[in-house]
Amino acid sequence: MSIATTVAEKAQSMIPIDLQIRGAHVYDKTRRIVTRTDGQKIFTETPIPPVDEVDLAEIDLSNPFLYRQGMWRSYFERVRNEAPVHFRSESPFGPFWSVTRHADIIAVDKNHEAFSAEPFIIIGRPPRFMDIAMFIAMDPPRHDKQRAAVQGVVAPKNLREMEGLIRARVREVLDGLPLNEPFDWVQTVSIELTARMLATLLDFPYEKRHKLVEWSDLATSMEQANGGPSDNDKVFREMVAMAQGLSSLWRDKAARTVAGEEPGFDLITMLQSNEDTKNLLDDRPMEFLGNLVLLIVGGNDTTRNSMSGGVLALNEYPEQFEKLKANPDLIPNAVSEIIRWQTPLAYMRRVAKKDVMLGGQFIRKGDKVVMWYASGNRDERVFERPDELIIDRANARNHIAFGFGVHRCMGNRLAELQLRILWEELLPRFDNIEVVGEPEYVQSNFVRGISKMMVRLTPKG
Ligand code: HEM
Repeated sequence: MSIATTVAEKAQSMIPIDLQIRGAHVYDKTRRIVTRTDGQKIFTETPIPPVDEVDLAEIDLSNPFLYRQGMWRSYFERVRNEAPVHFRSESPFGPFWSVTRHADIIAVDKNHEAFSAEPFIIIGRPPRFMDIAMFIAMDPPRHDKQRAAVQGVVAPKNLREMEGLIRARVREVLDGLPLNEPFDWVQTVSIELTARMLATLLDFPYEKRHKLVEWSDLATSMEQANGGPSDNDKVFREMVAMAQGLSSLWRDKAARTVAGEEPGFDLITMLQSNEDTKNLLDDRPMEFLGNLVLLIVGGNDTTRNSMSGGVLALNEYPEQFEKLKANPDLIPNAVSEIIRWQTPLAYMRRVAKKDVMLGGQFIRKGDKVVMWYASGNRDERVFERPDELIIDRANARNHIAFGFGVHRCMGNRLAELQLRILWEELLPRFDNIEVVGEPEYVQSNFVRGISKMMVRLTPKG
């Protein structure tokens, strides 16, 4: 670590995080006034033309409307076949490379010596000072140390402890669902269950759990992720509320431990009982915030959209739904296949640390390289009939939705556990979960999300 970084961290530790964020807000507002970029629209929605009408070099895979308009599949198929390592010179996010084949994505993701996760993992640049340091966007050895401090929260022993609680919460939600009448699955089931899970992971006050979802949604509502426009004032205000909320969670837990409360299996307890991180909030407040936000964001959109995506996919492939009902032993494999099919995070971005050849292309040091998991998971070289959901697909577990290498998703076992329990509890309760009407999709090139999906449940006859 450089002396400048050490000095910056020392200075940061002396200013409360909410004040740091307020300062960042003032800076951001001033910059936007000076540069006249308030509420910036990075992309404007226009109908996406069929892919064969577009020049290969003109294809911009960062356009969020490719996803929202359901055109992404044909675009990626063409790029995978004709220019698997594709250069876009003029995107609103600047020039970037797209890596679209399964094997090439793994090669990049595993090679952190050549491809850095720093400073961000999205294509665009987050607002200045909002680029909170998180270990998902750090290289070893810094990354490894920070990941080690928190990964106990999803260790197998902890997951075993949590399983009963997750199941009880899933049952409670499912038993309260309306029958034979339409309701929004996303809001009532996917968001609700994810919020409950996050509250458990952080030992966050249960009745305030929806705050965690709101805070997580902030990160993905920034224009750099959704293509704009975004309400940055709101983003900053909520960031302050989040910093305050998480700081008081930390202090409250410390006070309860001093008062003799039994240690739990939550993230805060874990950090407070580790020598290196026990004073994290006071010593390195931005790192504290970064680690917590990463878990909140990492565990939110992803699991939520796999819960919604599974229902949608099984509606599109009803014979697979019948197969699952007839053989619930297929649930674990179906969970992997659903995650492959949905791929809740479309990509992670890297920056080349040196000149490197990839797929016959010369990538220069400093170039942005985007690994499109959404494309790799539909690569016909690896998955037969890749656009279809096939719940007993032999190689479903070869999906790359959790990434690869040092950054491979820390919460992958937890996500699989949640989804397995959901389907184990759904199948005996309902004969059918019918999607009624067209689902609505999130505007984003990063989160492959469903924002609304009306369904009707038929109880077991
Ligand atoms: C990292 C996907 C659920 C926490 C990642 C990465 C991806 C991902 C693609 C980056 C991998 C890379 O760069 O190679 C998913 C998907 C999920 C999911 C698809 C659900 C289906 C969760 C959950 C948690 C979580 C439930 C919370 C415990 C994290 C963390 C990282 C991460 C902390 C950073 C790991 C690192 O940088 O070392 N996830 N995730 N994720 N995920 Fe997940």
